[in-house]
Amino acid sequence: MKRQHIARFTGFVAALIASGSLVWQVNAADANEDAIKEFMKAYHKAPKGTDPTCKKASNGEASKDELKKLVAGYKIMCSAKPPKGDAASWKEKTTKLLAAAQGLEKGGADALAKYKEAVNCKACHSVHKPD
Ligand code: HEC
Repeated sequence: MKRQHIARFTGFVAALIASGSLVWQVNAADANEDAIKEFMKAYHKAPKGTDPTCKKASNGEASKDELKKLVAGYKIMCSAKPPKGDAASWKEKTTKLLAAAQGLEKGGADALAKYKEAVNCKACHSVHKPD
């Protein structure tokens, strides 16, 4: 291939990647609407009288299946758009949560401590939860 062709091809691929991620972002924003609320209700706050999954996880009492669901949920959180606060901060917090939950799945000496720190309700709500 001639040099020019390679340059053109590279440009084309870059454009494809750029437009692809744009579409993905729009989709994520659409799906976002209530994704965070739904997640909070399902995993961070349980119906009265039962322990939410996050509490069980913090106590090292979550089942394999519960941890799997928690990890899947945090993955969605990572790509969701927070209703408040900046995206970089959200990404940092949710990525940390995801990594901590994955750590629980693997099991490790400091996995519980890391998860407890990452799942800090107030630290996140004060920045990202609308009043
Ligand atoms: C990484 C950030 C983050 C962490 C950690 C977090 N939350 Fe949230 N939470 C949010 C955001 C953002 C909202 C607001 C969602 C909205 O209004 O769209 C929210 C909303 C909620 C709601 C309201 C749901 C509704 O129906 O409106 C509850 C309840 C809740 N969180 C419980 C908790 C509890 C309990 C914890 C700690 C165990 C926790 N959250 C940890 C980000 C977080």
